[in-house]
Amino acid sequence: MTMNLTCRSTSLASRRQQGYGRLLILLVAATLSHISGARQVLRWSEEFKPGCKTTDKFCINGGINLHKFGFDLGDGTSYGPSLIGWGNWQRQCHTNASSNVRVEPFPNNPTDGMLVIQAGYEPSGYTCFNENAPPSTTNYTSARLITRNKATFKWKGAPGNSTPVRIDVRLKVPLVNGTWASAWMLPETNKTWCMACGPYGDGWCLGGEIDIMEHINSNDYLISNVHHGGLPNASWVGCKQTVAVYKNKPKMSDWNVLSMIWDSTYIRFLANGKEYNKITLGKWSTGGSSSPYAPFDVPFYLIFDLAIGGLYPGYKIDNAKVAAGEARFNIDYIRVYDIVP
Ligand SMILES: *[C@@H]1O[C@H](CO)[C@@H](O)[C@H](O)[C@H]1NC(C)=O
Ligand SMILES: *[C@@H]1O[C@H](CO)[C@@H](O)[C@H](O)[C@H]1NC(C)=O
Ligand SMILES: *[C@@H]1O[C@H](CO)[C@@H](O)[C@H](O)[C@H]1NC(C)=O
Ligand SMILES: *[C@@H]1O[C@H](CO)[C@@H](O)[C@H](O)[C@H]1NC(C)=O
Ligand SMILES: *[C@@H]1O[C@H](CO)[C@@H](O)[C@H](O)[C@H]1NC(C)=O
Repeated sequence: MTMNLTCRSTSLASRRQQGYGRLLILLVAATLSHISGARQVLRWSEEFKPGCKTTDKFCINGGINLHKFGFDLGDGTSYGPSLIGWGNWQRQCHTNASSNVRVEPFPNNPTDGMLVIQAGYEPSGYTCFNENAPPSTTNYTSARLITRNKATFKWKGAPGNSTPVRIDVRLKVPLVNGTWASAWMLPETNKTWCMACGPYGDGWCLGGEIDIMEHINSNDYLISNVHHGGLPNASWVGCKQTVAVYKNKPKMSDWNVLSMIWDSTYIRFLANGKEYNKITLGKWSTGGSSSPYAPFDVPFYLIFDLAIGGLYPGYKIDNAKVAAGEARFNIDYIRVYDIVP
């Protein structure tokens, strides 16, 4: 299976133009040596191939597959008035318009595609559509792609006797002040209009959050994070985090493969195959359960979004660069593997 993985990636690479291909082979080689002995079996993936058949109503915006993805729309108030700004005063309205979210071919290889999430600046105001809530007016548009109720992930087996899941995302972020790009996860739930809800309680952070990567503003810092804690009667009290900031190593405006390996007893974060953050059993907890494995023992869904402004990046937003289309978050692929002995 190790061989299969190498062959698969090599054939992918050969479809690419020179530079990307060589880089990918090196990355796969580094990754495999890192987990010597283990096999990676592809469980789920999205390569963002460009093109939709006109008859396929589940393929939109140049190649987004609605069987795999949905959108969080609006300014956050779909989830309740207190969630305006998505819980931390972000400024954008999320849309599903192709100006904000689409699949584009690579300039040098039209058969290979990437997801583009691109923020827009609206100096004269934009009427923001909110599902389940009144419209509002905002100055920025962007997008938030989710696999909620469509694809969810967790390690396999029993707590303490499990095999890990590995999620690789190859992506590139904008170095633009005021932007906040992230690839992250929240617990799966069937509750509609309930944000950060799950089996351990409703409301952030009782159910936990895993941030595979985050990037803010115009620096070269890569961030990963795990959120947990909360009180049973007050989800937001006593929230804890295990944040790692990896400074000036991966050039964030280049393509990087960022990974999260999640087992019942640890969560690890890697950049181009190199671990830079690890949290182990005993270091996390939730007010929603006394099990040491909770809240990271239930399925989580994936979220990819580009926020404009918010408590984390702040509000020194580079309107000129957003208006010029430079606030672009690109994702080449998402690959989810089981790591098996
Ligand atoms: C796209 O957004 C419109 C509102 O602008 C909404 O009516 C529609 O249901 C959305 N479609 C999807 C697939 O999210
Ligand atoms: C945002 O839009 C409003 C109109 O709704 C406009 O008056 C205001 O100047 C805009 N703000 C910025 C920062 O562009
Ligand atoms: C981003 O903002 C910081 C702090 O205000 C400033 O020092 C920096 O020059 C800005 N970067 C760019 C690329 O505009
Ligand atoms: C959501 O509903 C589906 C279908 O009824 C069920 O299979 C699944 O286990 C539910 N998921 C959660 C997290 O409750
Ligand atoms: C939650 O319960 C604890 C312990 O009973 C109590 O001290 C605290 O005030 C409660 N918090 C809220 C927001 O009700």
